[in-house]
Amino acid sequence: MISGVHAKGVKQMLEYIHGLPDQLEYCLQQEYRITIAGGISNVVVAGMGGSAIGGDVLRCCLSTRKSVPVLVSRDYRLPGFVGRDSLVLAVSYSGNTEETISAFEDARAKGARIIAVTTGGHLGSLAEKAGIPLITIPAGLPPRAALGYLFTPLALMAEMAGLADGIRDEIRETAAVLKEIREELCADDPDGSNSAFELALELKDCIPVIWAAGSDLEVAAMRWKGQINENAKAPAYYNCFPELNHNEFTGLEGPEMLTKRIAVIILRGGNEHPRIGRRMDITREILNDRITKFLTVKARGRSRMAQLFSLIYTGDFVSTYLAAIYGVDPVPVNLIEALKKRLQDG
Ligand code: F6R
Repeated sequence: MISGVHAKGVKQMLEYIHGLPDQLEYCLQQEYRITIAGGISNVVVAGMGGSAIGGDVLRCCLSTRKSVPVLVSRDYRLPGFVGRDSLVLAVSYSGNTEETISAFEDARAKGARIIAVTTGGHLGSLAEKAGIPLITIPAGLPPRAALGYLFTPLALMAEMAGLADGIRDEIRETAAVLKEIREELCADDPDGSNSAFELALELKDCIPVIWAAGSDLEVAAMRWKGQINENAKAPAYYNCFPELNHNEFTGLEGPEMLTKRIAVIILRGGNEHPRIGRRMDITREILNDRITKFLTVKARGRSRMAQLFSLIYTGDFVSTYLAAIYGVDPVPVNLIEALKKRLQDG
């Protein structure tokens, strides 16, 4: 049984996480009355933190399709190429994130086609006032626990724009895979049979370094890092093969007093490039006497989307169990709130 003063928060976060597959199914049932004319050359998702990551899932899902480039912009200004042929999806769960509101205004100034995705807030009012298509999603969750609501409308808009044929089937498959995973991993009293809890125990007192087996899985590693930061309130870092073999890997030659604290978690997908498989084997062999903890998590499912979400979902559970192990409440993100408050004050 998870106990301690923060047990309530852990239970709450587990409940939120439990709802992820239902969020995907909820969005599939919605009728979004939005029309998107053709001629789109690029898609830009503007958002921050938990609201931006759905854009990265979209980017990774579409990366092997014959689609258009998808870029996630996490800043006040959009890139210079954004114009009339751009579809800008401005995403903010609260609707009050200043960078996203600024990017939304920039998109308007650049004449881009815009769709806002939010629970309301300032972004919701601005979109309504300007007659810009608005997708209102259910409120009441921490943004990072609303990934299904924040991602699925983007995928459906991409489909509507003719950039993601068949994506509904992928969403259905993903929801089914996630339901299987939650049966196995969601528990108030996890034990040795719960692989997410076991992994969290392995990560205790270590600095997790998450490596994705290819850049097309990058978002899963990024999410693991963010969830360990926000849920377990612990440092974590991520990178991808093959890039990490050209820099980060060298850092692990460094002082043992630093490297001995590192636990590497490799996230593997279903269809890695064969040379990446070879690289991972050699990397492990080379680092074997420096890094004592090499852990591997394998994706499940057929489609890229299901594979990404299966990795993400496992990380959501691991980060929450790690919070329980550290005795911290995974729900509040006090530092983020304090910073936002100070910025609001001027
Ligand atoms: C909190 C979280 C944060 C927020 C971010 C942007 O759960 O994950 O990363 O998502 O500060 O805020 P919103 O999502 O309201 O635009």
